[in-house]
Amino acid sequence: MENLPATPQGLQLEYQAEGLTLVGNGLALRGDFTHLLPRVQPANLSRELLVRAAKIKGFDGVPHVVDATAGLGEDSFLLAAAGFEVTLCERDAVIAVLLRDALNRAQESPQLAQIAGQMHLYEGDSIDLLSQPGLMPQVVYLDPMFPQKRKTDALTNKKLQLFQQLERPCEDEAELMQVAYDAHPLKIVVKRPLKGPYLAEKKPSHSLAGKVVRYDCYVLPRRE
Ligand SMILES: C[S@@+](CC[C@H](N)C(=O)[O-])C[C@H]1O[C@@H](n2cnc3c(N)ncnc32)[C@H](O)[C@@H]1O
Repeated sequence: MENLPATPQGLQLEYQAEGLTLVGNGLALRGDFTHLLPRVQPANLSRELLVRAAKIKGFDGVPHVVDATAGLGEDSFLLAAAGFEVTLCERDAVIAVLLRDALNRAQESPQLAQIAGQMHLYEGDSIDLLSQPGLMPQVVYLDPMFPQKRKTDALTNKKLQLFQQLERPCEDEAELMQVAYDAHPLKIVVKRPLKGPYLAEKKPSHSLAGKVVRYDCYVLPRRE
């Protein structure tokens, strides 16, 4: 058993049979990729808006994406299933430990292990990670906390209630966007609410819009 990080008042981390769980206020939250399995079936995966947004036309090789705002890693899981090598960066210690536990369990699952093998967790601030020379990801993905709440179904809403007690509002979006540019990817993808403003007021090259969210894509010149 590892040392667990301190939790906000009224919340606790507990080892339960299903995995490490954050409990409080009658709610429970744990990382879990099993429910995403139907979405990673090939016919469904190619229709995922995030996968379409992150894809790089004509790229030869395994593209590396830095998910700079990993949360519980669900978007990263879709990207890993679509063939990306994913570095997941999470700065909140409680969210990071839940994510690490979910990744460890996934490594042990015959259905999830291959995808989880392409997911690598960096616990810390992505502003530090993206400033590391030599990282050179093809894609940087940003999904900082929305300025307004997302529309969600009731179950997701319950999970989000706990998640939002941990997550700080994004106060460094301009810096995050700048370090993403400075890492010289071929593309930056930003998840926004459908009608939300552009991150750091930067106009994207194009956007892919779904019913609830929008992916803003910033296509950048190829490195020589
Ligand atoms: C909306 S959630 C991301 C959800 C995620 N896309 C998913 O699929 O589960 C945003 C996460 O980004 C993290 N975060 C925000 N700014 C960060 C930064 N500068 N470095 C690392 N993590 C950050 C927050 O702690 C939070 O867990």
